[in-house]
Amino acid sequence: MHSIDYNKLPKHIAIIMDGNGRWATKKMLPRVMGHKAGLEALRGIVKACSDIGIKVLTVYAFSTENWNRPSDEVSFLMKLLVDYMRKETAELHKNNVRIKILGDLSPMPDMTGKEINDALKLTQNNNGLQFNIALNYGGRAEIIKACKALLSEALSKNISIDAIEDTMFEKHLYTEGDIDPDLIIRTSGEQRLSNFLLWQSAYSEFIFPEKLWPDFGKEDLLNAIYQYQSRDRRFGALK
Ligand code: FPP
Repeated sequence: MHSIDYNKLPKHIAIIMDGNGRWATKKMLPRVMGHKAGLEALRGIVKACSDIGIKVLTVYAFSTENWNRPSDEVSFLMKLLVDYMRKETAELHKNNVRIKILGDLSPMPDMTGKEINDALKLTQNNNGLQFNIALNYGGRAEIIKACKALLSEALSKNISIDAIEDTMFEKHLYTEGDIDPDLIIRTSGEQRLSNFLLWQSAYSEFIFPEKLWPDFGKEDLLNAIYQYQSRDRRFGALK
């Protein structure tokens, strides 16, 4: 294990927690057990990010496409989320974590919405780790939402099309006010973005560990940060 440079930490880490289903299948367990184990892995990673001083952690918990999974798997994920919010919020609050949701909560079951809103309210003034949970989130839907809002703003305030700049657009994204992710990790060896943070990932570094999400722990996170620190980020410019 190499040691990381704590002065050059990525400020924002985003994670696609992939491989829960395969993890369960390998152990001859139902798929949902993979999600349960995935939630345990998530607990460890939130704690690790908070401990090492990461500013923002974003996780892809449920995409707009995940509604197409079998209904018992969807309800299990919703239940897991409610349980997580119920059991974990006090601990997150104690650790000064601020929870934020990226996505459209309107189609969520009432109970899920209530637990989420309670957690948001309780942690809203915390200034430690910002923990973004992407829930019913899709990058394209987010971009369309922002386009509509910006267009309506431009019409009502008489802003000319030529005056539109990216900062005006970003104001209407779920990530409003957040720095873009420096590092995006997708576990399980898959190498795709799957509609995650399409706008925000313009200059992110990508790391694709082979491990399935439930097996991903603090050492793996530190290893990903170590790899990130060896990358040469030029943002389109020359050195
Ligand atoms: C992808 O694995 C994972 C998901 C679709 C859900 C991620 C959710 C969790 C880790 C737990 C719940 C999180 C919260 C905040 C309650 P997959 O099912 O696509 O795995 P596979 O590719 O092996 O089938």
